[in-house]
Amino acid sequence: MAEPIHILVTGGAGQVGLELQSIGWPEGVVLHAPTRAELDLGDAASIRAAFAAAPFAAVINAGAYTAVDRAEGEVAMAFAANAMGPTVLADLTRAAGVPLVQVSTDYVFDGSKTEPYVEEDPVGPLGVYGASKLAGELAVLAGNPRSVVMRTAWVLGVHRANFLKTMLRLAAERPVLRVVGDQHGCPTGARDIAAALKVITLRMIADADAPTGVYHFVNAGETTWAGLATEIMARSAEAGGPSASVEAITTADYPTPAKRPANSRLSTARLTRDYGIAPRPWQDVVAEIVAELNAERAAA
Ligand SMILES: NC(=O)c1ccc[n+]([C@@H]2O[C@H](COP(=O)([O-])OP(=O)(O)OC[C@H]3O[C@@H](n4cnc5c(N)ncnc54)[C@H](OP(=O)(O)O)[C@@H]3O)[C@@H](O)[C@H]2O)c1
Repeated sequence: MAEPIHILVTGGAGQVGLELQSIGWPEGVVLHAPTRAELDLGDAASIRAAFAAAPFAAVINAGAYTAVDRAEGEVAMAFAANAMGPTVLADLTRAAGVPLVQVSTDYVFDGSKTEPYVEEDPVGPLGVYGASKLAGELAVLAGNPRSVVMRTAWVLGVHRANFLKTMLRLAAERPVLRVVGDQHGCPTGARDIAAALKVITLRMIADADAPTGVYHFVNAGETTWAGLATEIMARSAEAGGPSASVEAITTADYPTPAKRPANSRLSTARLTRDYGIAPRPWQDVVAEIVAELNAERAAA
């Protein structure tokens, strides 16, 4: 029998971490997905101990400090998890000669571009979270030549807290939702992200010359937060779930501690070219998640 292929996934209790564990993997792949309590990205010793647990063939860093607004006041915590952690992972994986796949964010951009961002566009994070994630990207790219940084955005899923679940919760409580309509981006399914990470990771394990560097993965199409909320409400109403009307407001009407990019649309052309990954429309993701949450509610 062939030797098992061990893959380490950080952030095992996160949206993407959980989806990585529920999508199917080829026979022989053994996923290890420690939670923050078991592998703390802010604690180098804990990362080293987790990495020593098996002869890992690859690491997917899906864990991160993701509290965008709180990060403005918790700079050290954000940088410990999002920059120091990836630095240690890059060292360990390079020393072991194995690939590292780092998940990153659209918030590395300042949003001033009017077109979708491509990978080589200049970065310019507007807040601490984006800056800490950018530091992580640089650490990974400099620390391990066999690495991919996969930026994604506006993550939605059935697990944990995310915009879609917040909208459904609020729709059950009030008739009108006031939602920012002047930030443009690409809603993306956590499950679709996991599927893309799987393709990249398996190829990198199998092929030492697999493409490396920065890639963008988001679902196809674009909208605003208000546009996304409108779509969620329509799908939920169809499914007999909670629904409310959506009123578009401006960013200025909804001040937050961290600034967000007005445009964080990402082009996925490079990922399609190098890895053959063709994202489905974001509306399909919304429909799937709403249907799944509705079925869960009906069964409860
Ligand atoms: N969510 C988005 O909209 C979004 C957008 C763009 C990019 N991303 C990126 O996508 C990746 C996955 O994010 P997600 O959406 O799955 O976020 P998530 O649901 O917040 O999951 C993040 C996971 O990381 C864990 N974590 C936090 N601090 C940690 C630490 N010091 N050590 C180890 N684990 C730690 C969290 O632990 P707990 O379970 O204890 O909370 C959580 O399980 C991240 O790299 C994120 O930056 C996310």
